[in-house]
Amino acid sequence: MTDPRLVRTRAELAEVRAALPGPVAVVMTMGALHPGHARLLTEARRDNASVVLTVFLNPLQFGPNEDLARYPRTLDADLELAAAAGADVVFAPGPDVVYPDGDPLVRVSAGPLGEVLEGASRPGHFDGVLTVVAKLLNLVRPERAYFGQKDAQQLLLVRRMVRDLDLGVDVVAVPTVREDDGLALSSRNRYLSPFDREVALVLNRALSAGSAAGPEGPSAVRRAARDVLRAEPAARVDYLALVDPVTLADVPEHFRGEALLALAARVGPTRLIDNAPVVVGRP
Ligand code: PAJ
Repeated sequence: MTDPRLVRTRAELAEVRAALPGPVAVVMTMGALHPGHARLLTEARRDNASVVLTVFLNPLQFGPNEDLARYPRTLDADLELAAAAGADVVFAPGPDVVYPDGDPLVRVSAGPLGEVLEGASRPGHFDGVLTVVAKLLNLVRPERAYFGQKDAQQLLLVRRMVRDLDLGVDVVAVPTVREDDGLALSSRNRYLSPFDREVALVLNRALSAGSAAGPEGPSAVRRAARDVLRAEPAARVDYLALVDPVTLADVPEHFRGEALLALAARVGPTRLIDNAPVVVGRP
């Protein structure tokens, strides 16, 4: 295991990038890495000659009342995880490197798909995500980019952006990595008290109950998931939705096929999201 090369500036990145054998994969993160991020790196490592990890806490995607200031910063541990997972390069720029002129005047607009679900609760969030993803793609110039299914709406929007703006990169989806008890791994899990950690399990329980009701149709799926959530009042539900995985529109009662069951809830001070594909209707 050789340590990855840590680069901080555009010039350093350009220099190491020029020497990387292809295909080159990028895994973009905001740091506070966990085994979910490691899975992205491992899959990238398996199928590419070079792997670039980016660690950048992007201020543009946080709202004024969100957790940017207290988001965990753990670069030393992140570098160890990057080494263990076989990254070749870690690009960890500061905000002044990514946004040398301050907040960019020209940004990517996520459009209507960025205004529902997470976007309804976090206005402007996906414009901030897509803007930084586009910039990092331009800086790293990878052949492939790996994103987690955990953030299903983000993954969908990145795919749309790549298509709609002809960015010429393969977007690879990686399944959600969970703890043994079903909790989806998230950098924000480290905010959870032991009590909140127990409460948080209700997210996955609701998804499982919804999935099990798939054969009975959309309203049964929604009802099953909602009943589980209602039984845990310490989790304050932000949204629970069964949507078409491509349009993110609520699926109608006659829908058959694979839908996306997505939810967000506050547990203590922490906002958590999770989702699962659900096969709706009898085969
Ligand atoms: P971050 O939350 O750090 O996540 C980085 C990547 O890891 C995303 O693609 C996310 O979907 C994936 N990921 C997180 N938890 C996962 C899990 N439990 N299983 C599988 N994959 C998981 O998402 C972002 O950062 C940012 O919005 C970013 C794309 C880096 C732009 O700033």
